[in-house]
Parts: sequence; C-alpha cells; structure tokens
Amino acid sequence: MTSYRKDFPILDQQVNGAPLVYLDNAATSQKPHVVIDALKDYYHRYNANVHRAVHALSDQATVAFEHARDRVREFVNAGSRNEIIFTRGTTESINLVANCYTGLLKPGDEILISHMEHHSNIVPWQMLAARTNAVLKACDVNSQGDIDLESFAELLTDKTKIVAIAHVSNALGTVNPLQQIIEQAHEAGAVVVVDGAQAVPHFDVDVSALDCDFYAFSGHKMYGPTGIGVLYGKEKLLDVLPPWQGGGEMIETVSINKSTYNTLPYKFEAGTPNIAGAIGLGAAIDYLTQLPRDEIKTSEDELLRLTLSQLKQIDGVRLVGEPEKRISVVSFLVDGSHPHDVGTLLDQQGIAVRTGHHCAMPLMAQLGIPGTVRASFSLYNSPEDVDRLIAGVRKAVSFI
Ligand code: ALA
Repeated sequence: MTSYRKDFPILDQQVNGAPLVYLDNAATSQKPHVVIDALKDYYHRYNANVHRAVHALSDQATVAFEHARDRVREFVNAGSRNEIIFTRGTTESINLVANCYTGLLKPGDEILISHMEHHSNIVPWQMLAARTNAVLKACDVNSQGDIDLESFAELLTDKTKIVAIAHVSNALGTVNPLQQIIEQAHEAGAVVVVDGAQAVPHFDVDVSALDCDFYAFSGHKMYGPTGIGVLYGKEKLLDVLPPWQGGGEMIETVSINKSTYNTLPYKFEAGTPNIAGAIGLGAAIDYLTQLPRDEIKTSEDELLRLTLSQLKQIDGVRLVGEPEKRISVVSFLVDGSHPHDVGTLLDQQGIAVRTGHHCAMPLMAQLGIPGTVRASFSLYNSPEDVDRLIAGVRKAVSFI
C-alpha cells in the first residue's frame, strides 16, 4: 500500500518527544501540500473579489471559484452546478435548510431525526420547531450503534415533513442505510436532509443515486480548508425556498423597499464568499479523486479491523458500538477512567485522539455513557499507527 503520509507536511513532526500519530481525523483532517499551495497561490497571485469587477484578477478569481463549484458538482454527481451552494461548513448548510423551511412548516408538522445525530443536525431542527410549532422527534439507536429501523418506521408518519439523518455517525462510524431511509421518507412525503460530513472523506457519494433532497458536508474533514462547506440541494426545492441571508451577491435588484433575488446558486450566497476556501476545496477534490479510493477504503478498513481486534485483547478496554457497517472510527472506554484521562495519556505519547461526547450528547445518553475515547483513521494512517495506539492504550491502562 502506498504511503500518503509524505503528502501531508504537518505529519512530519514530533509531539511530546515522539513522532506524531494523528488519529483525530473525524474532527478535522490534515491538508496535503497541493491544498496548502492552492491557498497560497490564490493569495500570492490573484486575490480579488468574485463576480464583482471587470479587472483581470477578479476574473481569474471568479474562474477559479466557479471551477471549484464544478469540481464539487462532479464529486457528488449532482445534476447541475445550480445545486451546489458554498457555505461555511456542514453546520451552516444544515442551518440554511432549517432557516429556509421556516415559512413552509405549520404547527403540528413533524421533523424526524435520530438519536445518533451530531448536535449540528439536532439544534437547527429544535430551533425550526420552536419557530413553527412543529414537533421534533428522534428515532432510537440500538446498543450496537445502529439506527433502530423499527423505531424510525414507527415515528415516520404523513405528518413528517423533514427527515434529517447522518450518512455516517461521527462518534461510532456507523454507516446508515440511507437508501432505505430515503425511500421510506419519500413514501411518507418528507424531504431528506443528509449530514454527510463523515462520509465524503471515506467513500464515493452520489447524491443523484441516493435521491436525497439535501446533502451537507465540510471541506476540512476531506483534506480541504476550514470555513468552507457545501450544501447540495435539488434544484426544484432550492428554487422555491426563500433566501436565508440578505446582502450582496444574492440579489438581482434592490430598491429601498423591495429586492428581487439572484438565480441559483447565488440566491443562497450572500456576501463575499470564502474564495480561498472554495479554491482549496477544489484542490482537495483534485487530490482525492486522483487517488485509488477503493484501495484506500480497503486499507482504512484493515486499520479498523486491526484496531478492533487488538483493543479487544486489552483487559479493561470496552469497545463502544459494533455497528453492522462502519467506516474507520473506533470509540472505546477504559474501565475506571474518564475518557479525557486516556486522551491525555495518549497525547503524552504523541498520539492525537478525541475524547468526550463528540457533539453527540443524545447518543451518549442512549448508550448510557458520558463519552468515549475516539480514534479515527484517514488515508495517511498506517498499521504502525495502530501499533502505536495499542501500545499507548496498554500504557494508559497500566497507569489507571
Ligand atoms: N464533528 C467533529 C467531530 O466529530 C468536530 O469531532
């Protein structure tokens, strides 16, 4: 298996006296040279605002920015570039949809999520429910860490207007049976909003084949910059939604008392966008798509298998969640310790993991735990990183 570690300059460093093992990829991934260079190149050579001027630099920036949109469209196989809206990230993408539905829900309508969701796929819906007197419901997650599909089917009714579900759980790595969920939701007459933040870095996503109505993801988890993300939305739905933020770019005409709005996708992109971020995201897509993604997926799956089998052999370690289908995210607990203590002991050995509730407090409540230690793998991780993690956990256990 090719090593991609050399493409990521940050990984070439010692942390607390040991070579860095970065296993916090579900929080954010590191950036390859090509992405860093694309950002630097934009600021060095053609920094200018987009869509606003006739001068050469603005034209160059606009071409690069819109090229990035085309790359995103191809990346998720959307039908049209009008369906690709740049946002700050997954959280803003979901908030955009939740805000735009304010005038479209009536009291008693229902929004259905799951207990597995990240807070960013819970709180915007709570706020929408509060604005509209709609009812927010959440289906159960079983002890394996899979969505309880019976609970989902029971809660899905003809009152359900929106179903919002993660493609992949950030805390457990569960890959949800999205196709089935989307079909059922559509039969009930609901639109489906997918939180795809943890999916796009790991496998190909085809929004047209999925037939989801909205799909949200972030640049920074897929080797791109922070502060840039995407909302895919079906054109026919985006067309009828009102804009959510007002300002430059999203308008066609403005008088003091009235404005008319720009066409898609600009109707949802008020203000100067994150131009460098979009260009960096385009570079991340170029990087990712020239790699053998199936081979990388197999190698990440192997790291998952190695980690699970070796953690199981350590007395005092309890794995959290054994979902049917998962990506390379492993959550665990060490008996008699708080996850933060384990995370600190690992950090002292140069190993970066995340600890806590992972912005998924309702999931932790369903599982009856306060949080976990989470190791999440990426394309630059290797079996040696797993060895270091396992040795690190053994050492942590011996201290606790
Ligand atoms: N959503 C990110 C995580 O799971 C921050 O760590």
